[in-house]
Amino acid sequence: MDLGGKQIIVTGGVKGLGRAMVEKLVSRGAVVTVFDIDVAGFDSLKQELPDVQCFACDVTNYEQVSGAVEDYFASRGAPDVLINNAGILYSEPLIRITGTGLQLHDADMWERVLRTNLTSVFYMTTSVVGKMIARRTKGVVVNIGSVAAAGNPGASAYSAAKAGVHALTQAWARELGPMGIRVIAVAPGYMDTDSAHAATSETALRETIKRVPLRRLGKTEEVADAVVAVIENDFFNGKVFELDGGLTI
Ligand SMILES: NC(=O)c1ccc[n+]([C@@H]2O[C@H](COP(=O)([O-])OP(=O)(O)OC[C@H]3O[C@@H](n4cnc5c(N)ncnc54)[C@H](O)[C@@H]3O)[C@@H](O)[C@H]2O)c1
Repeated sequence: MDLGGKQIIVTGGVKGLGRAMVEKLVSRGAVVTVFDIDVAGFDSLKQELPDVQCFACDVTNYEQVSGAVEDYFASRGAPDVLINNAGILYSEPLIRITGTGLQLHDADMWERVLRTNLTSVFYMTTSVVGKMIARRTKGVVVNIGSVAAAGNPGASAYSAAKAGVHALTQAWARELGPMGIRVIAVAPGYMDTDSAHAATSETALRETIKRVPLRRLGKTEEVADAVVAVIENDFFNGKVFELDGGLTI
């Protein structure tokens, strides 16, 4: 797919990896719309990229997702690409041994991480793809997964959510391929974002970097480049593109 003039929805495009994707896609001539909960961040995005349209949308809320998707189709028609990027990074061990006893993984956080990182991908994709198919539009869904899908110790909820995202990618690639819609996951390793620094202690990040053959964190623009590459290659489908500097080999 040639990106020039293509209509692309990016969830969570206000900051971090999503922001880098928006910047890269706009620079390649795509027409980008951001779905994000961070309405306060829309101003700085619009200042930098005035042609980017922003929709306020909590992707964990089905009514908000359906409403925003309805509005999007009414104003822009069917998108060519949906990028499910919005998510939260979260680490918490299943059981923590403290001086006063055992502390169990917070059950509310389990629900929140699953809703934000997995259920949202289902809400967005079913809403957008349903309308694409009704209009016989072909296209691409890119899900941002993670190498944590293999099971990161200390990140039960996050790992489970991202494993779910990878599984959906495969299931949907099989279901939607015959209708001309490719579904792909891009799975970053440890990237140099504010959220990664906030979710992981600097000691743990330093230890991780020692295990990366390239001995560094990834850059946001490198994830954006990977997203562009998988969209552009029309035979790439149903696979997880791991971008981790060699961490998982
Ligand atoms: N940063 C990393 O090292 C890393 C590694 C692997 C995977 N990922 C994945 O990449 C994606 C982006 O991560 P990031 O590091 O850029 O995070 P980030 O916190 O920098 O940005 C996340 C964006 O998503 C938006 N968002 C969060 N919850 C939302 C909701 N309920 N509804 C709508 N928008 C919402 C935020 O407002 C923000 O703009 C996530 O799916 C994350 O799991 C990140």
